[in-house]
Amino acid sequence: VQSALMDGPLKGRHVLVTSGPTHEPIDPVRYIANRSSGAQGSAIARALAALGAKVTFVTGPAEVPPPAGVHVVRVETAREMLAAVEAALPADAAVFAAAVADWRVASASGSKIKKDGSGALPALDFAENPDILATVSQMKQGRPGLVVGFAAETDDVIANAIAKRARKGCDWIVANDVSPETGIMGGAENAVHLIRADGAEDWPRMGKAEVAAKLAARIAGALGDEA
Ligand code: CTP
Ligand code: CA
Repeated sequence: VQSALMDGPLKGRHVLVTSGPTHEPIDPVRYIANRSSGAQGSAIARALAALGAKVTFVTGPAEVPPPAGVHVVRVETAREMLAAVEAALPADAAVFAAAVADWRVASASGSKIKKDGSGALPALDFAENPDILATVSQMKQGRPGLVVGFAAETDDVIANAIAKRARKGCDWIVANDVSPETGIMGGAENAVHLIRADGAEDWPRMGKAEVAAKLAARIAGALGDEA
């Protein structure tokens, strides 16, 4: 069964997928992070592998386990994720589904920060993390032929995603509305818009596995056209 599945339209293709949150340490016992179960990224990696792709799955500490049949690289921080992504290239396509922390604590403490008894509050200095999607999208050499980003937005979803696609320099953006009233965040379903250079496509609300299968099929189509 496995060998039959491997014989799909992405046979011989290498696709990189990032997934999950990153954890940015404050001290040895504390961190800052985004909310991300890793469910959508995991489903995308599974769907790409099912079409025959060789998949490198670079994942932060996610709740949902990685799928079988992919090469898993585990990381904690955004900087580790960038290094793992660079080490995994070249790739025919790359999908950036990770919820990367935008900021890290500039100088994490090597020892546990303690209350000193006076009620004084600790101050944290932040530094901006590297933008992994933008870095790869703007590579002069060795850029994957198709670079796909995600955009989780709460307001003006499509306008924000169109602007984000241009700013990052990626080919496609999968945009979703994560406003609390949609109930999307942390749920089993997703309602996304696929933003490309030639416009936006609205996909109906569907399970994350179905979103993944549809996206994997679109990626196979795009790589097939280019071959
Ligand atoms: N991303 C990334 N590296 C970062 C931040 C984001 O690779 N340091 C990727 C995400 O994986 C996603 C896309 O960029 O594919 C958009 O992430 P998002 O957080 O929506 O974009 P930002 O540019 O960080 O903008 P915002 O201020 O809206 O958070
Ligand atoms: Ca962000």
